[in-house]
Amino acid sequence: PRTIIEPFRIKSVEPIRMTTPQERVALLEEAKLNVFKLRADDVLLDFLTDSGTGAMSAKQWGAIMEGDESYAGANSFFRLEAVLKELTGYKHIIPTHQGRAAERILFSVATKKGDLVPNNTHFDTTRANLEYAGGEAADLVIPEGLQPRTRHPFKGNIDLEKVEDLLKREGHRIPFGMMTLTNNSGGGQPVSLANLRAYSALLKKHGKPLILDVCRFAENAMFIKLREEGQQHRSVKEIAQEIFSLADGCTMSAKKDGLVNIGGFLALNQDTWVEAAKNMLILTEGFPTYGGLAGRDLAALAVGLEEGLHEDYLRYRLRTAEYMGEKLLAGGVSIVEPTGGHAVYIDAKEFLPHLKSEDYPAWSLCNALYLEAGIRGVEIGSVMFGRHLEDGSEAYHPMELVRLAFPRRMYTQSHFDYAAEAICELKAKAHTVRGVRIVKQSKYLRHFTAEMRWA
Ligand code: F0G
Repeated sequence: PRTIIEPFRIKSVEPIRMTTPQERVALLEEAKLNVFKLRADDVLLDFLTDSGTGAMSAKQWGAIMEGDESYAGANSFFRLEAVLKELTGYKHIIPTHQGRAAERILFSVATKKGDLVPNNTHFDTTRANLEYAGGEAADLVIPEGLQPRTRHPFKGNIDLEKVEDLLKREGHRIPFGMMTLTNNSGGGQPVSLANLRAYSALLKKHGKPLILDVCRFAENAMFIKLREEGQQHRSVKEIAQEIFSLADGCTMSAKKDGLVNIGGFLALNQDTWVEAAKNMLILTEGFPTYGGLAGRDLAALAVGLEEGLHEDYLRYRLRTAEYMGEKLLAGGVSIVEPTGGHAVYIDAKEFLPHLKSEDYPAWSLCNALYLEAGIRGVEIGSVMFGRHLEDGSEAYHPMELVRLAFPRRMYTQSHFDYAAEAICELKAKAHTVRGVRIVKQSKYLRHFTAEMRWA
């Protein structure tokens, strides 16, 4: 049979609850029209994020019982360190409570005011932490990466000409280069091995290290195996090992391809930043052998990193997004094509052509999806990336996307069928969806806490 099945069976279940449309109107109103403020119990299918929301395996729960909770020198740390050293080849493993803590530590020890960091696209916390340290983010993804309907197998690739130009013009300001695998802000799109090899060589030529953001490295490696010429015979793990070997270190939110609910790390091959990073870790996260995590979290991650590379799992994982994408396209819904690894991105400008930028179309669509079917997605548009300028006006983001991100190993095919049907039904009455206005906002990462009203 052709069907790619969920390569697991269910041992433990959690009920999910359907609310009535009337209840959802009141609940969203109470949440100030911001789905981040909803209670998860009031959500039927939660596609807010794939971060920390997945199901752990029986083996991981077993490892949790074996977690060593010693303050210093815990066995669970050495178990994780061994797995990570074997996978990445990096000398120093610095655990953190999640990805942004690794970013904050990296930028605080390795960048200074006025520095410039190139990346395919900085994720929002990466950009915010870099800017907080006084640096500037340069997003240099290839042009196809910004065109929702241009098909390209590796839309996460970085534009090497732009990188070279930047290195020549602003090299003195660049402490290192970064690359995000997969490119989350650009649609969960993968980077090819060829692009990564060339980027790594270019940086090396200019004496600059490369630091990877590897939240979704396993999904990226699977895309390489499926799509890049000459990679089909290799195991995903071998491909991943080559990816790591092309860089000097990485930050990771293990809440994605680490298959855990909390955790992250900074890994570095050279000694340069390590002492300062460990001091910063002790100051803000915890002792270097636990870094803000419990021993049991480290143990679950050691197992999760191995399970996350199983190829039957990854094949099913990538197929999930592709399957949703096919259903939405068939229903006339425009999405970012091809689908990425962890999510489907709906083009809200196309979905709601009657709304203008000041109506925040992607935010409005998020609200409508909740009201229609109890589905929670996330806005990746002008509330997240736009800005409130000093003169009171607003800078809008060129793309208005709604991301439906899929928790790992959690929902079954019928959940996805239901979601696709509901979205296509909403499409048929899209003209009834109203825009929104911002009532209250914060300076950084305003989407998390913004309060809205109907336009
Ligand atoms: N880098 C990327 C590419 C991410 O997607 C995330 C988180 C982070 C860094 C930060 O990691 O959350 O553990 O501190 N992305 C989540 C998401 C939140 O929904 O895409 P964190």
